[in-house]
Amino acid sequence: MVKQLVILGSTGSIGRQTLEVVSLFPERFKILALTAWRNWRLLAEQARLFRPRMVWIGEASLSEALREALPPQTEVLSGEQALCELAAHPEVDLVLSALVGAAGLAPTLSALSAGKTVALANKEVLVAGGELVLQLLRRRRVRLLPVDSEHAAIFQALKGHRRRDLSRLILTASGGPFRQTPVERFPEITPQEALRHPRWRMGAKITVDSATLMNKGLEVIEAHYLFQVPYKKIEVVVHPESIVHSLVEFRDGSLLAQLSLPDMRLPIAYALSYPERLPLPYPRLDLSALGSLHFEPPDLERFPCLRLAYEAGERGGFWPAALNAANEVAVEAFLSGKLRFSEIPLLIEETLSRLSFSGKPGSLEEIIEADRQARKAAWNWLKERGC
Ligand SMILES: NC(=O)c1ccc[n+]([C@@H]2O[C@H](COP(=O)([O-])OP(=O)(O)OC[C@H]3O[C@@H](n4cnc5c(N)ncnc54)[C@H](OP(=O)(O)O)[C@@H]3O)[C@@H](O)[C@H]2O)c1
Repeated sequence: MVKQLVILGSTGSIGRQTLEVVSLFPERFKILALTAWRNWRLLAEQARLFRPRMVWIGEASLSEALREALPPQTEVLSGEQALCELAAHPEVDLVLSALVGAAGLAPTLSALSAGKTVALANKEVLVAGGELVLQLLRRRRVRLLPVDSEHAAIFQALKGHRRRDLSRLILTASGGPFRQTPVERFPEITPQEALRHPRWRMGAKITVDSATLMNKGLEVIEAHYLFQVPYKKIEVVVHPESIVHSLVEFRDGSLLAQLSLPDMRLPIAYALSYPERLPLPYPRLDLSALGSLHFEPPDLERFPCLRLAYEAGERGGFWPAALNAANEVAVEAFLSGKLRFSEIPLLIEETLSRLSFSGKPGSLEEIIEADRQARKAAWNWLKERGC
């Protein structure tokens, strides 16, 4: 059966790699819709190649330019409502959720509510909306497939094992570009330096998150919701080669891991074709050429963002959504030169200390409100410091 796909964020790093995989298997996948925020030129190029029935552009003022660059039969959509409808389209079989940040929450929830299988790259969806996603998964019995390489590894390692035999999840982290940088240098780290990741080519936000280790913190929260494992059973180990994508430990002490070259096209392809595996033509791992692999504990003193994520995760409720929103503001401020690299965790911690929440999120609107409050508190903190 040909799977009809909607790719949310097709112009991003994950979106482009997804289309690369799709282009290898035209007999298996058909593109129903593609989306971008501003990059209408690339979106138009993708649409001419993959012939989706619909395209969505975030910046409504670019719709006209986009329409003129497209075949006349392609429908051009804009606005949040249209994005949510597109993710829940009756003909779609799988939605690849690869927007960046909390912006992906509404369309991903819309897809899940409509009973669609979702392949999730956009980890912030589970960080901000984990409680709601879990409710939907229970109610609708829909499938949520991880695309993040660490979670795809755990998903595969858990296959065929009894949940009660699980003792820990171990997420690997590359350690980012500043793993060995003295902490005294942190205040001078520039956006250009932070955007040079040693192993992965990714969008700007996740690359900065990888440099602060917030990315790993968000992934810990993502793992908590995806696999429903308590935080004390989720550990992080730094593994600079990014070959072991994560591990599962069972109660007899056995560890199962998934290994490959660092290439997001593998977990993307697995999520697209699950439970089948596609015959991918990409380079393979040669263990004897590799020689050795290294592992070390994360340094929470130098990278406090990981600690902040564990704390927000343990507090639960609205705190992970607030952590995520404060981090989005911090990354934006850092990239635009308003905040030092070393101040990213400070801004997040200060923001969270100014907020109070009670109870658990019961609706998307409540999460959006918590997100709004956290962003406001973060921008206020920046203003008070004259940033
Ligand atoms: N890249 C990776 O290797 C990787 C690995 C694991 C997980 N992830 C996760 O996957 C997600 C996507 O990452 P990425 O690296 O692909 O990001 P990216 O390169 O920045 O791409 C983001 C995509 O979302 C669109 N977009 C941005 N803001 C939007 C908004 N407010 N509303 C609607 N669309 C918006 C962008 O459109 P424009 O191009 O027009 O701006 C682009 O298509 C993130 O959550 C990230 O943490 C990424």
